[in-house]
Amino acid sequence: MSDEHPHWRNTKGPEPFYIKSVAPIRRICREERERALASAKYNLFNLQSEDVFIDLLTDSGTGAMSHYQWAALMHGDEAYAGGASFERFKQTVRDVFGFEHIIPTHQGRSAELILMSHFLKPGCYVPNNIHFDTTAAAVQFQKAIDLNLVIDDIYDWNSEFPFKGNMDLAKLEDALKKYGDKIPLVCHTLTCNSGGGQAVSLQNVKEVGALCHKYGKPLFIDSARVIENAYFIQQRDPVYHDWAIPAITREIMSHADGMWMSAKKDGLVNIGGLIGVRSAEVFDALRMYGILFDGFSTYGGQAGRDLDALAVGLYECCEEDYLQHRTGQVAHLTCLLRDAGVRTTWPPGGHAVYVDGRDFCPHIPPEQFPAHALTLALYLEAGVRSVEIGSILRGRHAETGENQYDGLDLVRLAIPRRTYTFTQMEYVAENLIEMKKNAGNIRGVKFTRETPVLRHFTSEFGWVGSAESAG
Ligand SMILES: Cc1ncc(COP(=O)(O)O)c(C=O)c1O
Repeated sequence: MSDEHPHWRNTKGPEPFYIKSVAPIRRICREERERALASAKYNLFNLQSEDVFIDLLTDSGTGAMSHYQWAALMHGDEAYAGGASFERFKQTVRDVFGFEHIIPTHQGRSAELILMSHFLKPGCYVPNNIHFDTTAAAVQFQKAIDLNLVIDDIYDWNSEFPFKGNMDLAKLEDALKKYGDKIPLVCHTLTCNSGGGQAVSLQNVKEVGALCHKYGKPLFIDSARVIENAYFIQQRDPVYHDWAIPAITREIMSHADGMWMSAKKDGLVNIGGLIGVRSAEVFDALRMYGILFDGFSTYGGQAGRDLDALAVGLYECCEEDYLQHRTGQVAHLTCLLRDAGVRTTWPPGGHAVYVDGRDFCPHIPPEQFPAHALTLALYLEAGVRSVEIGSILRGRHAETGENQYDGLDLVRLAIPRRTYTFTQMEYVAENLIEMKKNAGNIRGVKFTRETPVLRHFTSEFGWVGSAESAG
């Protein structure tokens, strides 16, 4: 454990908000959880949320809005075209990210479909540090190939490198030389969700931008958590200690030609997305796809009131007290677990803690999905819902049809924004730490029904050796 970066450790501070409206959560007893899990066929996506005590399934669209955002909803202008809500939204996005042309979308994946429909042809290649699943799917949907070119440090559990989400510049240049005209755009994901929410340095964005422009390629930033990334840059890179978050965010974007965002994360809203570009020509082309997929370009699948709430949320996300609390919760949970010997991603990421399922359950072979088994056991023990990011999610190999056991098997504990308290994080940590002592009792898992597409959402499972899994 490093003392070099004390801010990674001194993370518990008072919440920069008070609670004004609450939603009760109920804690059902273990027998009820056992019944709920059995009727969910051992797939946590099938649970009713009222049977969950602490829901760490995702940080996407699950956060709490401020009273300013709720008030902003009342200003919503629901005109089909030219609404005042769109104007407010557009000015905010221009101000926060610095792009002239803005297209609203209903969420991140529709922005991806719009972009990839415009830029890609079959057989193209798209480099990224690591494509998020929906980005990879949008690339593959155009019969193109997604390339993940992140630095190798991201796979080293003990490396202290603060910017493990960086693109490997040598790998990127090799790809640019090798595939030439077959690369229509380069993407960079900040923070790198599929790599544990790890940050990307400003230097890296700058160098990636320079390389793209040397080879005549546009750079697009996948910006779902770019403001959290800006905070990490401020905290971890001395060059930017005195910079304000909006200045860092705009500096990131100054090296790119465009961006897209799932606003369900750093937009601090429950639904929404957007695209921003510099070129009027690209904007005109993207707009057509936007109208086709999401609706006219001044609403893009969102209600006017949603655009107003998002305009407020983007500014709130740039507040340092908020960002310190946000990243502090993730770091606090990470440090509690690591200090007790639970192996997690390191340094702490922006939105989630990832626990190494194989290290936690060394007695469960990869073919019995140790991370999924741990998510089920954590639900039974504590009513906490998490998700497997491992070989179930990876699915079968496109060509061989085999399960892919050669990657990591992780349990993701994703933390919704402004929703849970530090005490609730400690409850999660205490339960996992206690479970580690008797981890040998956790059984492996097998499929009882495997669905062919995006199988983690819809497949059914059973414990190895139990009656449910006998077939
Ligand atoms: C980095 C990243 N890009 C894109 C998306 C897709 O966004 P959405 O879920 O809004 O469609 C996500 C969602 O989690 C994400 O984390």
